[in-house]
Amino acid sequence: MPAGSLSEQQEDVVSIEYFTEENSVACVLARMDQCRNERFREVMRSVITHLHAVVKEVEPTIDEWMEAIQFLTETGKICDERRQEFILMSDTLGVSMLVDAINHRKPSGATENTVLGPFHVAGAPKRQMGDNICLDGKGEPLYMSGRVVDIHGMPVSGALLDIWHSNEDGYYDVQQPGIQPDFNLRGLFQTGPDGRYWFRSVKPRYYPIPTDGPVGKMLMMMGRHPYRPAHIHFIVGARGYVPVTTHVFVRGDTYLESDAVFGVKDSLIIDFVKHDNEREATRLGVDNPFYVAKHDFVLMRTPR
Ligand code: BEZ
Ligand code: FE
Repeated sequence: MPAGSLSEQQEDVVSIEYFTEENSVACVLARMDQCRNERFREVMRSVITHLHAVVKEVEPTIDEWMEAIQFLTETGKICDERRQEFILMSDTLGVSMLVDAINHRKPSGATENTVLGPFHVAGAPKRQMGDNICLDGKGEPLYMSGRVVDIHGMPVSGALLDIWHSNEDGYYDVQQPGIQPDFNLRGLFQTGPDGRYWFRSVKPRYYPIPTDGPVGKMLMMMGRHPYRPAHIHFIVGARGYVPVTTHVFVRGDTYLESDAVFGVKDSLIIDFVKHDNEREATRLGVDNPFYVAKHDFVLMRTPR
């Protein structure tokens, strides 16, 4: 548009609406006129609209606003290549599970997703089917087995299961370097033509998410506990199928109904059945007494 005369421009200036409490949203949104990225514009429009609504509802004092800024500053400062406090914040506010749910709408019967969490380690060792992933012999023996199948119940051959979990004290190997062996309670297992998997390990325990940062303080101030119910993590994938990042949870755990990160789903709670049977223990290659857990993973085909 050609530039108007000086008097027209002056009129424009006079007609500008300066920022007020009442017009705050419209005033900020108007500055995005030149934004070419449609999606970014849509996202920022929503963020600005909701952020202003929060401020108008809460009416923070200046000190409270500075406290919020300080909280975000501390959250950023504690982050490094291992610690991701922003994801932990998203997890504990239920946002991670919401984003996950929106992005993994599935037909019923397919294994449901849950959060990845900060303790996954890429490049865990490949194991032979049946291997014991508990490398320090600490804990109550567990024998877990099942199948990887498609939505019609047909076995998925060549599926890779990436498995990791906490020890009997509720710690991952990466939280206890020098105490637990590297890659303790982790491993990659590949299914054969029958889709079956089985491995030996120990029963995991519930544990607190990291509480030594701003998220820990936030939970305490909200009157919330930091615990996750006992679980085993799985990423299960195969060529031609949508990979699933999930857990199985130990039925009966105290924290199933109040998981600090909202990761529990009914379909993922399974029985860990205690057995006291020497002969069966010998057959399965575990010490007696031991737990048995069974679970099938149901994968969806990759959409064409
Ligand atoms: C976990 O299960 O490893 C986990 C998930 C989210 C936050 C913290 C830990
Ligand atoms: Fe975990």
